[in-house]
Amino acid sequence: TSTVPIPQPPTHWFTRNLPEMDPSFPVASLWRLAAVYGDIFKLDLVARQAVVVSSYELINEIMDQSRFRKNPSGPLKELRALLGDGLFTAYWDEENWHKAHRILMPVFGPIQIRKMFPEMLDSELAFDTIGICGFGYRFNSFYRDEIHPFAKEMAAALIEAGKRANRPSVENYLRIKSAEELNKNIHSMWKLCDDLVADRKRNPKPDARDLLNTMLNASDPQTGEKLSDENIRFNMVTFLVAGHETTSGTLAFLFYLLLKNPETYHKAQKEVDQVLGDGVLKPDHLPQFKYIEACIRETLRFQGPIGLLNIQPIEDTVIGGKYRVTADEIILCSVQGLHHDRRVWGEDADVFRPERLLDGGWERLPPNVWKPFGNGARACIGRFFAEQEMIMAVAMILQRFQVSMVDSNYNLRLKSTLTVKPDGFKMRAVRRPGKG
Ligand code: HEM
Repeated sequence: TSTVPIPQPPTHWFTRNLPEMDPSFPVASLWRLAAVYGDIFKLDLVARQAVVVSSYELINEIMDQSRFRKNPSGPLKELRALLGDGLFTAYWDEENWHKAHRILMPVFGPIQIRKMFPEMLDSELAFDTIGICGFGYRFNSFYRDEIHPFAKEMAAALIEAGKRANRPSVENYLRIKSAEELNKNIHSMWKLCDDLVADRKRNPKPDARDLLNTMLNASDPQTGEKLSDENIRFNMVTFLVAGHETTSGTLAFLFYLLLKNPETYHKAQKEVDQVLGDGVLKPDHLPQFKYIEACIRETLRFQGPIGLLNIQPIEDTVIGGKYRVTADEIILCSVQGLHHDRRVWGEDADVFRPERLLDGGWERLPPNVWKPFGNGARACIGRFFAEQEMIMAVAMILQRFQVSMVDSNYNLRLKSTLTVKPDGFKMRAVRRPGKG
């Protein structure tokens, strides 16, 4: 096949395309460049060559796991200092990924997650929920006021990993203080996890339905081996990192979008009143929240927390019928580009409209058009966990409170750590008269 060159912004002799990247919000730099260079362009980021794709047509092709697979690069590679060969940051050929995937997949299935309902009900959102459902540990519960140090250390580590990936290596080398700080935070997070493991070994809780029991006791159905203590620690931190900001960011976007679109807010609240009335939320209610489910899915399309999927060709190949990509290049798939491609989502792609996913709309979606949880074998293992947690949170909040924006003129601004989230968005909740 004859190929054409992939467009590329002009390069600087020393820093190549690195000056195009804003280290504190790299994804936004890619959105800006996509508006100029189109559905596909390449960047020389000195340490790595990246091809950025933003259309349904190209991303649909790249989701083919027989030709492409996830390989962590950039911030994900930097995060290996903290998460090692845990599920999220493992390279595709690492045996520990396969082992942990086989051991943990069953406990993340919908039926097992439904059994975590009582623990989820009794936890504060996102971070605390993983602490309790994961390891029986209360980080920052209803019963304590200040933020747990782990949450602060994690936020700092994520921000620093993102920056390191988009700075020249000389600069990283010279920033000795930041490196020391990162290292200190990493060791403090590891220690907490190691202490929890040691404690569970000393005081086994055979009846606990949590992830730690599975990681400690289950053996890999294929090799009969158990997970090493080091890999358990990496996966504990991984669950906290992967499940915290993603879930809380999505809920923040969701409430922003509901408040900006009052008719969706009313429909969601009406659904909660019909299903729950003044009653207590029970597991059986969950499948009845059809409109809320559509709101969550539409939020994840409209503005999800994960901006990019890191994919690598298994061998040199041609995409889109004419662009050559090599096995040492990283393809960054823009989830935003995919989710707002008018050629598949239609002219109202930039409108928040949960109705598009109701009445068969969800079932009619073309393959690979909705990817907020990633792709294939490396898709989010925590998807059911997150979906159940979010439905529970939205239902309980709408049942009991009337929510509004503190600044009614607020318009969405974004910021990023490892994930994308709203900047400066504040809500106020007032008890609904006669409810709870
Ligand atoms: C992977 C999104 C919640 C654990 C991923 C990936 C995405 C994602 C896009 C793939 C990343 C990539 O391709 O590089 C989300 C979103 C969530 C969410 C949008 C919430 C709304 C959770 C929760 C947990 C979790 C609650 C854990 C309890 C993981 C893990 C992986 C992962 C372990 C790596 C899976 C593997 O490669 O084997 N997630 N996630 N996530 N997520 Fe989530």
